[in-house]
This record gives sequence, structure tokens and C-alpha cells, in this order.
Amino acid sequence: MREHPSTRVDFRSDTVTQPTAAMRKTMAVAPVGDDVLGDDPTVIALQERVATMFGKEAGLFVASGTMANAIALRTHTVPGDEIVCDKTAHIYRYEGGGYAALCGASVALVDGEKGLMTAKQVRNAVRKAEGSGSHYPNGSLVCVENTSNLGGGTCYDLNTLDDIASAAREMGCATHLDGARIFNAAAATGVDVARMCAGYDSVSICFSKGLGAPVGSVLVGSRNFIQNAHRWRKMFGGGWRQAGLLAAACAHALDHHVERLADDHARARTIAEGLNRLPEFTVDMATVQTNMVYVDCRSPAKDIVANLAAHGIDVLDTGAHRVRFVVHLHITDEDVTRLLSVCSSQWSIET
Ligand SMILES: Cc1ncc(COP(=O)(O)O)c(C=O)c1O
Repeated sequence: MREHPSTRVDFRSDTVTQPTAAMRKTMAVAPVGDDVLGDDPTVIALQERVATMFGKEAGLFVASGTMANAIALRTHTVPGDEIVCDKTAHIYRYEGGGYAALCGASVALVDGEKGLMTAKQVRNAVRKAEGSGSHYPNGSLVCVENTSNLGGGTCYDLNTLDDIASAAREMGCATHLDGARIFNAAAATGVDVARMCAGYDSVSICFSKGLGAPVGSVLVGSRNFIQNAHRWRKMFGGGWRQAGLLAAACAHALDHHVERLADDHARARTIAEGLNRLPEFTVDMATVQTNMVYVDCRSPAKDIVANLAAHGIDVLDTGAHRVRFVVHLHITDEDVTRLLSVCSSQWSIET
């Protein structure tokens, strides 16, 4: 049964979920305070819970994944620094150039494979001001994204994550992990999130994606890092008051929506295999590791989007001949069947 009744099936993103009835009930009765004054008990409990879960000293509850990343980048860097990340990284592609505008930092892009970098690539990308006769910016931060969104929802293996963190440390760089979908990575790889993040100085975790909360991210790191991040959150206008209403939704998501991520992954695989059987579509199955399916299509992506929309199915075009399907809390087996039967009826014949 679909948790959120609708005649449409929305595969555009895992951000489209509506809070469930049980989540709304938890939110309604959550004890709250003034988080700017530091006395919202539900926010405090969430921050402590997430920090402990990730093996870090402290956490900071913020409005979005973008805000968590922006605060992390600003806390780790000073103007004139350079940040190393994959060429597809969300912080580079989709966060409004915050690294430049808010941090005064440049970015050194790594040509990773399916959104995933290697330690060698990271080592080669770090430029240090020192010893360059003041020619270079100062490479001071390495960011990895797990899962990698544009990589197709791909996951780092633990050795690579550890190697990148060690390489960064050897080169005098801090490390940040954009874990917008880190619980998807944990579900797919079986690696505990604290272990996964052991080498990383900070991690941003989103609750408004696969976990199904309406709003909220937590940034975790050392006590000192979070103290500094708290000041940047204030300057970015992110201090909030009775935020416990939202923190309650995130805590509910941790209690009820983590175990079920494996179901999303299985459905994504069914979609990918089904679409791959049709001549119109090609899916690189190696990228289908979590809840996303990026599909190359022969027809213009805009036509595919319009055709599916006419059948009550919403997807996103992410390139001229590329569309994206994301599976989440409100996608049922019936929705997957409906999608595949519409696609078969529309595109099964070679044209
Ligand atoms: C990998 C990644 N990081 C960060 C974000 C930003 O999250 P938000 O939309 O909450 O700002 C997203 C959003 O989809 C994302 O995919």
C-alpha cells in the first residue's frame, strides 16, 4: 500500500516524499525550545544521537544538505584555499557556486569514474601554496560524496574511502564527506556509517532524501569543528528557533526508515533491468547500486518526460538523452509494475 495516496507516481527525486501520518504525529507532540538559545531538547537529542551514530564528538542540525555542506566548506577553509572533489560532486555542480561565493575557494576537479575518485587522483589534484612561490592556491580540503548522485547512486568501497582520507591527511588537507545518502551507501555495502566515516573530519547527513523527513540535515565532526560551524550557521542565517518539530521528524526517520532502504534498492534494480530490455533505453547496470537509475534514451529526454507525464508518471531529464528515476518511501511494487508496463507499451517496438 502506498503511504501517500496519489494518482501520480513521482520518480523525480527521493526529496519528494511527504511526511507519513506516523511522522506527523511524532512531530506534533515533540517537546521544543529555542534552538538559538540552545534549549530545544529534541534538536539536542538528534544532534547527540547522530554524532554518536557516526562516531563523532558533536552534531549541528541545519535546514538542508546544501547548508550543511556550505557550513562545512566554510569552516574548513579560508579564502584562497582550494577544495578537491570529483567533477560531478554536488558541492561543485549544484550548490550555486557556494565554495566561491561563501568560502572564496577554488575547486580542483578530479576525473573520477562513476562519481568515485581514487586516492592517487586525489593526491595528484592537491596543490599547495607552500613551495610554489605563491603561484598555487592552497589545497586544504578533500570532499567525497557517498553515494555519488551524478555517478548514478554509486558507493565507495571502504578501502578507497580510507585511502583517500589517508592521502588527504598526508597532504595536510581536511576531509569532508557529503553523505546526503550515506544510509543508502551503508545499506548497499553493509558497512556501518561510523566505520565508513572514521577517516573523515566532517560528514553531512540528509534526512529529507531516502529517509523521508520533510526538512533537515545534521553536520557532524569534532567538538571544536562544530563550535566553529555553529558560528557560520548563524552568519548564514541558519539559526532557528523551535526546530525540534523538524528534528522529531528526522529522529522518526532514523527509527523507521533506515531498514527499509534495501527495498528501494531492489525496486531500482527491477526498474533498471526492465528498462534495459527495451531498445529505447540503456542503463549501465554497474551504476545501479542504490535507489537511483540513470537511463540513456534514444529519443530526446524531454519527449520521454512528457510521454511518461501524460501517463501519470513523473521523471527528471538530466541531459539531452538522459532521464533519472529515483526510488523512495512512496514507491511501491505496483508503481514499478505500472512504470514498466507503460514503458513496454510505448517503446517496445524498434522505430
Ligand atoms: C549528494 C547531494 N549532496 C547534497 C545535496 C543537497 O541537499 P539539499 O537539497 O537538502 O540542499 C543533494 C541534493 O539532492 C545531493 O544529492
